[in-house]
Amino acid sequence: MSRRFVRLLLALCAAMSSTLAAAQDQLVDPNTVRPSREAGRTANGLAMTPPMGWNSWNKHGCKVTEQVIRDTADAIVANGMKAAGYGYVVIDDCWHGDRDKDGFITADASKFPSGIKALADYVHAKGLKFGIYSDAGRKTCGGRPGSQGHEYQDALTYARWGVDYLKYDWCSTGVRNAEEAYALMSDAIRATGRPMLLSICEWGNNRPWEWGAKIGNMWRTTGDIRDAWAGPVTYSLGMMDIVDKNEPLYPFAGPGHWNDPDMLEVGNGGMTDTEYRAHFSLWAMMAAPLIAGNDVAKMDGPTRAILLNADVIAVDQDTLGMQGRRVRDDGDHEVWARPLADGSRAVLLLNRGTTPAEIAVAWPEIGYTAGMASDVRDLWSGTTRRLREGRFSAMVPPHGVVMVKVTPN
Ligand code: GLA
Repeated sequence: MSRRFVRLLLALCAAMSSTLAAAQDQLVDPNTVRPSREAGRTANGLAMTPPMGWNSWNKHGCKVTEQVIRDTADAIVANGMKAAGYGYVVIDDCWHGDRDKDGFITADASKFPSGIKALADYVHAKGLKFGIYSDAGRKTCGGRPGSQGHEYQDALTYARWGVDYLKYDWCSTGVRNAEEAYALMSDAIRATGRPMLLSICEWGNNRPWEWGAKIGNMWRTTGDIRDAWAGPVTYSLGMMDIVDKNEPLYPFAGPGHWNDPDMLEVGNGGMTDTEYRAHFSLWAMMAAPLIAGNDVAKMDGPTRAILLNADVIAVDQDTLGMQGRRVRDDGDHEVWARPLADGSRAVLLLNRGTTPAEIAVAWPEIGYTAGMASDVRDLWSGTTRRLREGRFSAMVPPHGVVMVKVTPN
C-alpha cells in the first residue's frame, strides 16, 4: 500500500468521524437535553441534611383531608417530633380539585374547605413547614390534574400559598424526558423566588441519581414501599427489597441531594417493632429522608420510641452526609458502616434470617486499625462499652439489627 493511499484513507476516516460527531451534536443538544450539565446550575441550597417530616400517603392515601393535616401538625408539636427534627408536613396526592377557567389549580373543596393557603398558614403557625404534591404528567397517580403544561402557573400558585416542599410524581408522563421534566419544574420554582425543597418521585426509572443533584434535593430510587419486611408485589416492594436497590447508590448521595428509598412505614402495623427498628436504622444508615407515614396523633409507645430515637436520628442527620453501605454480606448476616463527621462510624449488624445470630465486626472492615481502642455506644439500648480488642460482636434478633456508634478513644 502506497503512503499516499494510507494518508488518503486516514483523511477520509477523520472526515467521516467529524461528520458523525457533528450529526451527533445536532441530535443531542447538551444544554436542553441534559439540563444537569448546564454550567452553573445548582439545586437550591436546601436539605443539607436529609429532609425530615411527615407525609399523608402511607396512612391516608386518597382519603386525606384538611382535618388530618391539622391534627397531624398539632400532634407533631405535642409528641416531640418537631423537637426531634420532623419539620415538614406534606399533603400527598388527592388534594386537588379542578383547574379554574384560567388554568390555575384549586383544592378539592369537599376535603379542603378552608383552602390550601389557610392550611399552610396553620402549619406555619406551628413552626412547621408545609409541603404539597403534584405530578409531571397530565394526571397524578390518583387521577387528579397533573402539572404538565402548567408548570410555571402551578409553581406560582404554590408560592402564593406558602408551600415549602414539592413532591413531584411521574404518572401519566408518556414519553416525556424525565430530566427535562424535573428541570422545568425546578426552574419554575426558582422563578417564583420562594425556596421549595424538590422531591423527585420518578421511582428510579431514568437513573435520577445521575442528574438529580442539580435539579432537586432527593430522588426516589425505587417503586413504592409496602408495609412488609420483604416481598415485591406488582409495583410495590417490601422494605428489604428497597434496601437492596438503594444501597448500591451510596456514591450519589450527599448534602443537598439524597437517595430516597421512600417514606417510612414505622407504626403502620405490617411489621413487628423489631422489624421497624431495622427499617428506621437502615434508613438512617442510608442517609435517607425520614418522612414518617403513620398516624402520629395515635401512635403507641414502641412506635414513638423508634421515630424519636435521637441517637439514630443523629446518624441520619450527620453533617458529613455520606451514605452508609454494606461492608460485609454473609447471606442472612450483614455488616454496614457509615463514616460520620466527628471521625466516628455508625455500624449496623443486620440479621435477615429467622433465627437469632451472633454477628461480629472487626475494625479493619470499617476502616479503622486492628487494635484501636474505642467507645461503642448501642444506639437502641443507650449503653456504652469501652473496648480494647478492635472488634465488636452482638446477638442480633431475627429480622433485626444492632446499631452502634464506634468512637476512637
Ligand atoms: C405514586 C408515588 C407514591 C404516592 C402515590 C400517590 O405511587 O410513588 O409515593 O405519591 O403515587 O398517588
